[in-house]
Amino acid sequence: MPDFPHATANFIPDSPASDNRGRHPATASGDAAAIAVTGLTKRVADASGELTILHSVDFTVQKAETLAIVGASGSGKSTLLGLLAGLDTPSDGKVLIDGTDIFALDEDGRASLRKAKLGFVFQSFQLLPHLTAVENVMLPLELAGDGDARPKAEAMLGRVGLSSRLKHYPKYLSGGEQQRVALARAFVTQPPLLLADEPTGSLDAATGEAVIALMFELNREHGSTLVLVTHDPAMAARCGRTITIAAGRLV
Ligand SMILES: Nc1ncnc2c1ncn2[C@@H]1O[C@H](COP(=O)(O)OP(=O)(O)OP(=O)(O)O)[C@@H](O)[C@H]1O
Ligand SMILES: [Mg+2]
Repeated sequence: MPDFPHATANFIPDSPASDNRGRHPATASGDAAAIAVTGLTKRVADASGELTILHSVDFTVQKAETLAIVGASGSGKSTLLGLLAGLDTPSDGKVLIDGTDIFALDEDGRASLRKAKLGFVFQSFQLLPHLTAVENVMLPLELAGDGDARPKAEAMLGRVGLSSRLKHYPKYLSGGEQQRVALARAFVTQPPLLLADEPTGSLDAATGEAVIALMFELNREHGSTLVLVTHDPAMAARCGRTITIAAGRLV
């Protein structure tokens, strides 16, 4: 049996007195909306020809806003969120993140913008299987050159209730535990924009409530913008605004 460190400090990683928010070289403007989406369309080839998953979607999210995206299964929510993060490319339309047209950037440019501004929680967690829980959470900090990656990662795992699972590999974690590691990984760099796909989908009510509280706490502490895909009416109700997507269109 591996031994687990129990003495994880019960503190929030220090928020830097002056962070780099809005100062990334790829950034256009401090006054821009957090997200501006225009005419966003996604078509894919399928057996019967072409399938349109998103039909010319338009919306804007202001900085520090909390937005819920709701809709039936298969309506296009995950596709939309992936496009907002530049993880997928649209067939048509634009996504501006803090004023920067992300599809005008090359892949490296999008990667550096994501690193500077964005936390993403995937519906399927997407933890790296060969890294432990704490190593998964350390990764974005290390990529950003943070010298305090380990204590910050341990502290964030503490906030999602996983201090006793630091050295577990993902395959030895339950679904809800993996989800909490994924949330810790997305939060740990305190990104100005957090995109989360069903962040409480695998959690029991009490843990889900704790994770929701944490997300809104970070939103308040850091003025971060939150965009959540959810089926949970209680979570949607806590967001400042809800948009509904049906068969790839905003309703
Ligand atoms: N690469 C692809 N090729 C073909 N069809 C796709 C592709 N990606 C997504 N789809 C289809 O597009 C639709 C929207 O998928 P998406 O994952 O965005 O739905 P969702 O709203 O997130 O659903 P859920 O609530 O079940 O997670 C689905 O019908 C899906 O099968
Ligand atoms: Mg989905």
